[in-house]
Amino acid sequence: MKYNLQFSFKLRGKFPQNAPEKIEEWLVELKQMLEKGINEKDLKEISRVKKWEIPTTSKKEDEFILSVSSGGILLPHHALLRMRKFFSGKFGKEFKLGISGIEIKSYKIDVDIPRKPEKEFSLPFASSIKFGDKVAKVTLDKDIPIDFIEKGAIDRLVKLVRNKVLEEFIRGKDEHHLVIWTSEEKTPVVKTNPTDNMIKEGWIQRTNYRNQWIFGPTITAVTEALKDVMVDVLYKPLGFKNMIFPKVVPWEVWKKSGHLSGLYQGGFEPYFVCTPKTHDAEFWEEIADYYRITLDIEPEKIMEKLRPPIGGLSYAQCPPFYSYLQGKTISDDSFPLLIYDWSGPTYRYESGAAHGFERVDELHRIETIVIGFPDQVKKAAQDLRIGFRKIIGEILDLEYREAWVTPWWISQEGSADQEDGKTVELPKFDQIGTIDFEIYMPYRGSRDSSDWLETQNVSILGNKYAKSFTVKSQSGKELWSNCCGGSFERFISAFVAQKGVDPKNWPEKFLKYIDELPSGPTFM
Ligand code: SER
Ligand code: ZN
Repeated sequence: MKYNLQFSFKLRGKFPQNAPEKIEEWLVELKQMLEKGINEKDLKEISRVKKWEIPTTSKKEDEFILSVSSGGILLPHHALLRMRKFFSGKFGKEFKLGISGIEIKSYKIDVDIPRKPEKEFSLPFASSIKFGDKVAKVTLDKDIPIDFIEKGAIDRLVKLVRNKVLEEFIRGKDEHHLVIWTSEEKTPVVKTNPTDNMIKEGWIQRTNYRNQWIFGPTITAVTEALKDVMVDVLYKPLGFKNMIFPKVVPWEVWKKSGHLSGLYQGGFEPYFVCTPKTHDAEFWEEIADYYRITLDIEPEKIMEKLRPPIGGLSYAQCPPFYSYLQGKTISDDSFPLLIYDWSGPTYRYESGAAHGFERVDELHRIETIVIGFPDQVKKAAQDLRIGFRKIIGEILDLEYREAWVTPWWISQEGSADQEDGKTVELPKFDQIGTIDFEIYMPYRGSRDSSDWLETQNVSILGNKYAKSFTVKSQSGKELWSNCCGGSFERFISAFVAQKGVDPKNWPEKFLKYIDELPSGPTFM
């Protein structure tokens, strides 16, 4: 790493004659100050003033220009903040002169990178980035505001250069996927596409909007039965409580959950939510009138009347829940908190054309959250995993497997920051990460060659959420969380893919939860 910064302190007046002498003296003092507490071996790496100058001008106010370079320790933009304090003390005392501002004249940073990226990129606030084999030469925009430095943005920018190179590399590889357990083979009753099957039977109907579906009475009854199974097998015996989470998510939540780092980078593709500029009836009247005359709407006109998005529709389901605990201290005996939510759909703007019922924009999900001390969270994750095995393998009687995969939050954030790259064998589920339950879909082909449907995950998140939403335990002991997500769409698609739509072929253990399967109207 190499940093070269040129900046100036703007003065509120002119330097006296003896200023250069004094400055030379102070630079020695400054050097000692900056070296304080630095290891001998690191001294070469810290910020050094390479040059300074007071240009002669006819202006009433002088400027004190400095060039500062460093390696990777005590970087010039950090040294600058200390120098501001140092020199404003000196100038004030000796010359009765104040510093009125700081101007960044040029900042060039050589960032070490693991390799040259295949696709070069630019970044906000960088006027150019030139990539070599092991180094990215970054020139920052001139006139960087000082509060940009104070808020740590330059450090994040440098880190981002490295991370983007790393992420390109990680993305190039397959998502991490290791099958850790497979159930016994089961002979499927059908081999047809479940979406086609369910349409034919009148279970589901496509709407005019993208890949959105209406659940008819039959599949709704199947969904309710599945809910009863979840309550019976998981929630009741393990002591979970039902809650209702918000489904509109403000930026603030996605800042904390980390999702915004991955915005439309391949794993987090939310619907945005805009509110009107005003409620005012007159403001909207032309739109309503236009509609009354043309019976049509001009979305672009509406766009002009909207504020920029406030956030978006719930995507990962659990993040907005954490606002419930945000900034709170919770009694130790409240833990573990065991919660589930299935109060509404979550949304993802899936790419490409319409998919079947297995991959929808509007999905009805079951989210299960546990917060507590690490041991409680690990135990609950294992209990939940066993419960899902029972539901999928015994009650629904499906052929499935478990895979240790890239944790959902890492794929959603798309951030190399968190990727520890570990491949983990999994005797017991007691570490941070995600297990996916994947169900065999006979219509897609053979067991070996086809994609199985990811239907449910169980994830241990460590302290990530408790920390970023500042949730504290009464004793101050560390808090962890886990969460599990699965959608009714996926569960039922997988079930119908192996068992078909005729209850005659369904397992007894599931039929127990269904009194009667209502049918929809007969469409003529
Ligand atoms: N929140 C997790 C996810 O989005 C589990 O539902 O996958
Ligand atoms: Zn979750």
